[in-house]
Amino acid sequence: MTIVEEATDAHLLRFPEGFRWGAATAAYQIEGAAQADGRSPSIWDTFARTPGKVDAGHSGDVACDHYHRFADDVALMAELGLGTYRFSVAWPRIKPDGSGPVNPRGLDFYDRLVDALLAAGIEPMATLYHWDLPQVLEDRGGWTNRDTAYHFAELAAATVARLGDRVGTWTTLNEPWCSAFLGYASGAHAPGRRDPRSAFEATHHLLLAHGLGVTALRAGGAREVALTLNLTRVTPRDPADRHDVAAAELVDGLQNRIFLDPVLKGGYPDDMRALFDRFGAAGVIHDGDQAAIAAPIDLLGVNYYQPSLVAAQVGAPPNPCYPGSEGVIYPAQDTPVTAMDWPVDPTGLGDLLVRLSVDYPGTPLIVTENGASYVDTLVDGRVADAARIEYFDGHVRAVHDAIRRGADMRGYLAWSLLDNFEWAYGYDKRFGLVYVDYATQARVPKDSALWFRDVIRRNAV
Ligand code: NOJ
Repeated sequence: MTIVEEATDAHLLRFPEGFRWGAATAAYQIEGAAQADGRSPSIWDTFARTPGKVDAGHSGDVACDHYHRFADDVALMAELGLGTYRFSVAWPRIKPDGSGPVNPRGLDFYDRLVDALLAAGIEPMATLYHWDLPQVLEDRGGWTNRDTAYHFAELAAATVARLGDRVGTWTTLNEPWCSAFLGYASGAHAPGRRDPRSAFEATHHLLLAHGLGVTALRAGGAREVALTLNLTRVTPRDPADRHDVAAAELVDGLQNRIFLDPVLKGGYPDDMRALFDRFGAAGVIHDGDQAAIAAPIDLLGVNYYQPSLVAAQVGAPPNPCYPGSEGVIYPAQDTPVTAMDWPVDPTGLGDLLVRLSVDYPGTPLIVTENGASYVDTLVDGRVADAARIEYFDGHVRAVHDAIRRGADMRGYLAWSLLDNFEWAYGYDKRFGLVYVDYATQARVPKDSALWFRDVIRRNAV
């Protein structure tokens, strides 16, 4: 270390020893090779082929071609100093029929990936489901069919049987809120259904899948098991207005508590249980499900991007993503926004982490995703993404602040390693630390990647 660095080190905010730093991706967003080695179509292949569903008609057919370029991508991760890499496995590669026999060639890919990571000194963290349900299962009802939860547990068992000797940390589901409410209520995501009742049924079956998955992973010897939720701080516009407060409570229920409480408190909160009743979905909740869902986890994964501000307004129609939320509006927030138009407010992350540690004590937390999309331009081989650095810097500081306020934080994973297929927005929205030139598949670390490399090296910001 140079003398200059030693001098500036005094200003750094240090993270605890063993804090995990890394980046995350998801199978459909980066792999491509949509038909390779026996992979079957997923609901996202179908959705992307449906005109009007994905911007510019993009699909994950080729994506970042990571399936063929994983070795170079792992080398890039090593250059950036990542300690942990969170990726997801594609159900339609591992079980092309959704259930039943395993496709060994599908698992071979993850086998190669995990070996390459370990050889590079990078800890693999595997997510079992990041939204790519085999289309054959959707044809039988998808997440509205209880059988899908049992098929998920079989996927968990098969995957941990093959990779569990080398992958210690597992996440069952990524953001089940999106699977249920964007997939089955608003229709913005695959499978594109617009039926509130189905969304609540899907919610319960996803939670059941999680619980059964935890048990299957443990039986297969998993060391550490997590669930990743997209959570946020929900604030009433006027904390002194009881209608605004009630609106915030409802949105908090539909975004946060509907998943947190069954997993960490043993049951749905009353207000959410009432919505299952109201939409005719309560019949999917069977005796014994709550116990299965509440199987203990070792780590809660938090994906955070933006805070939520809500207010009450008589007569406002329900937001299709939040069935039952009539009379709730989302006033503009007085912050900068990203290219997604998402408000930037790191205090939302800090407050959320502290709230989780107070309301759900005893579960260690890890940020499994945080990041921002900005319009990036490659000029003379460089992407100068100062706004993204500012976003990361603010949020990493917020994590540090949460630790200071008592949150048991175990790590921070940036979204995303690479620019990739941003679901309904296609490739135009870039979230990567590394720029991808889709015409050539060249990778160029952005300035933010170099900034992040220094944070990791110092374990401090
Ligand atoms: C969360 C999702 O898990 C990920 O797939 C997505 O790309 C990011 N949010 C950004 O929208």
